[in-house]
Parts: sequence; structure tokens; C-alpha cells
Amino acid sequence: MKKVITYGTFDLFHEGHYNLLKRAKDLGEYLIVGVTTEQFDEYRGKVNVIDSLMERIERVRQTGFADEIIVEDHLGQKLDDVQKLGIDIFTVGSDWVGAFDYLKDYCEVIYLDRTKDVSSTMLREKNQKIIKIGIIGSGRIAGRFMPEAKNVSAINIEAVYNPRIESAKKFGKKFDLDVYTDNWDFFLSKIDAVYIASPHNAHYEYIKQALTADKHVLCEKPMILNKTYAEEVFALAKEKNLVLMEAIKTAYAPGFIKLLNIAKMRSIGKIYDVEACFTRLASGNIRELKPEENGGSFTELASAPLLAVIKLLGKDYDGLRFESFTDKNGVDIYTKAYFKYKDSLATVKVGLGVKSEGQLIISGSNGYIIVDAPWWKTQGFEVRYEDTNKNEKFFVKYLGDGLRYEINEFAAMINKNDDKNRYKLTAGESIAIAEIMERFLTWRRKSE
Ligand code: CTP
Repeated sequence: MKKVITYGTFDLFHEGHYNLLKRAKDLGEYLIVGVTTEQFDEYRGKVNVIDSLMERIERVRQTGFADEIIVEDHLGQKLDDVQKLGIDIFTVGSDWVGAFDYLKDYCEVIYLDRTKDVSSTMLREKNQKIIKIGIIGSGRIAGRFMPEAKNVSAINIEAVYNPRIESAKKFGKKFDLDVYTDNWDFFLSKIDAVYIASPHNAHYEYIKQALTADKHVLCEKPMILNKTYAEEVFALAKEKNLVLMEAIKTAYAPGFIKLLNIAKMRSIGKIYDVEACFTRLASGNIRELKPEENGGSFTELASAPLLAVIKLLGKDYDGLRFESFTDKNGVDIYTKAYFKYKDSLATVKVGLGVKSEGQLIISGSNGYIIVDAPWWKTQGFEVRYEDTNKNEKFFVKYLGDGLRYEINEFAAMINKNDDKNRYKLTAGESIAIAEIMERFLTWRRKSE
């Protein structure tokens, strides 16, 4: 019996998929179809798959061509499957010509002509209402957003706004945007959602104005430096049924989500301590070091470490105190925040003027997790035990600058318009971070 195998995502099942499976079946007597998991697709950089794994499997099953359906969830699996399942022919569409020639040592490899003018990508774009995004601010982070946004097919960057028209124009020209403006109403008329990348002090007003104008909001971190304001804007978003999301990119990174899941499985036992460090040296006459712009190590860098603490230990700490070294302007160039929970501790260590190892350590009663620097990308971590034979290492891909994960989440939340995905960073968690920022700034002012 001639065994044939083929693989694919089979998202939004279409005629091209049908034709391929039909011809694949005709190549032999028994057809095995491998369908990719969400995680594997994400790993391969396909972050916008719409149908669930079960839906995609079901569509393949309904064609009646597959004698067996398997799940493809890791790199290198194809070679393993071909040997293990005794495959005679491996086949995929002609878009892959050459890519699987390495299997020729084990079976016949056939690239079948691709059906013209149809693909999941085309259908996704056709079915989806593309979300038109406008960028507020045109600084460094806005520049990083542009290439990352290209990886998310559900959105399109339409416009940039800056009250300083020259900056808006420069940015617009650089990134080939038709609309660059200092006219707020004109800007809003062009878009469905905003990405706020302005200096922190302007965030609150922009968020309020954008929500009031019925626009969804993705706002750079720290979103707001005040608890009451944070509560107010989240309440407004809820009332208007709009998405408001804080752009702490770590929260949406696949590696960080995996890390949280593993930490919460409690293989390291009860978590007693979380230590998170983030430093980035900065100097000169820059916003990050200006007290009037709420610059300083804590406001600039603590969002991701605070996210780790709150995700792992919760929002209900009993005590919080700070220690800082400040420069001549009263801006903290190094800060440590000490959290005391009922039965655990946490430290956040940040520096614009002190360099240290950017690592995260989660200590528990059975073992600890150490995340390699820079931990906020969470590409690799190790779970370590007293008995070192039990140690386990994990690696998770982090593509590009990582902003694509938060942009994708933002688009998914808008398109689905439900609460399903909001666990990655909840409104309550963002408000808790705003409150900590506020407490820090109050303490810093008092200790001047
Ligand atoms: N395929 C095909 N003709 C098409 C589209 C896909 O023959 N018009 C084949 C692919 O070559 C592959 C299989 O169908 O062997 C599954 O492809 P998949 O990547 O799931 O589909 P695409 O439509 O190419 O998806 P995307 O646009 O997300 O890349």
C-alpha cells in the first residue's frame, strides 16, 4: 500500500486546499494529512491564523480524502513522521519547491502545482475588515512599530499625528504614509484605532480623546502614572465597548506566556520570591532623564518587571517601598522596589545609570526558574531543582522586535470584540501598575 503524506495549516479551507488533498490522495492508496497547531504556526511566524486547530482538522476530514489526520507541532517532525509512518511519497504545493528536498533520502518528494489565485492569506484579507490605525507621536518607538505592524495582516497604518507638523511629515515620508498631520480631527477621520507613542505625560489626554471619538486604543507603557486616571479611562473604554490595551510587549510574547504557565504549574513549588531587573544606560539631554517629563529609571523601565511581579504574585501586596539613587535633577538613575506579599517577596531593579544583568528569577519551595537576559523577550529559560538531573530548559522563538505579538493581540481583540483574549494583561493589572508608578512618583517627590 502506497502511503502519502502532506502537511498544511488549512486555515479558512479553500479550493486550493481541496485540490491539493485530492491530488495527494491520487498519488497513492493511503493519505495522511498533518495539520499545524497554533503554537507551531506562531513559531513559524504565521501569527494570524483564524480557524482553530479543531476547525481546521474538521474541514480536512470533511473532504473524505484523508485516511488519517495527525497534528504537526514541532520543527523536524516531518522527517520523523516519514520514517516512523513508513511514508512512500511526501507532497506539498509548488510554493514549497526545494524546501523539502532533504526528505528525498527517505521517500519520494513531489511538489504539486498550486491552484492559482486563492490562498488563506487572500481570504483573510478579503473577509476581514482591515483595522485602520493612526500613530500618535513619531519618535523612536513609533519607528519600531512600523516594520512590526507589517507582519499583522488585520491592520494597516494609515496616518501619523504629531502636534509638531515637521516631525509628522518626516515620519510620514520615511514610512510612506499618505496622511501625516497636526490636525487632530482630520487624523481621527482617517482611522478606527490609535497607537499612542507620545511622551508619557500626554498619554492620559490622548487616550480620553481617542476613546471619546470611538477609537480603540493601544497605548505605550507606562500607560498612565496615576491610579484614578487609569481607572477612569478603562471605565470609559468599557462603557463604549472599545479596546484599551497597554503596550507592554512582554505580556503578549509567546515565551513569557509559556513561562507564566510553567511557573503556575507549581513544579517549582510555592513561589516565595520574584526578582526582575531591567537596565538600559542613557545619558544627555533626553526626555528619559527629565523630571518635568516624569522621566527616570522607574517610569521608563519598570513596566515589564512590574508585569512579571503582578502576573506571578498578584495585585494584592501588603507592603511596597523604594530605594533610589538620583541625579542632580532629582531623576532616579537606579531604583529598587521591594514588595512584601502575605507569604512572598518581590524585587524590581531598574537603571538608566547603572548596568546589571537583565534577568528574572522566580524562586520556589522545590526549585527556581531563571530566565536568560534579556528576560523581557523570554526566549530561553531553565527550571532548576536541587536534583540537577531534573533540570529542564525551554526555548521559545521571539520574532523581530516582538511588537507584532501585541499588535496581533490588539487586532484580535478588536475583531472578536469579546473578553476572551484579555487575560494576557487585564485592565486591573494595568491599573495596579499605574498605581505603583503613582506611589513611586509621590515617594520620589517627597524624598527630594
Ligand atoms: N495550496 C495549494 N494551492 C493554493 C493554496 C495552498 O495547492 N492556492 C497548498 C499548499 O501549497 C500546501 C497546502 O495547500 O501544500 C496547505 O497550504 P496552507 O499553507 O495551509 O495554505 P495557504 O493558502 O498557502 O496559506 P497561507 O496563505 O496562510 O500561506
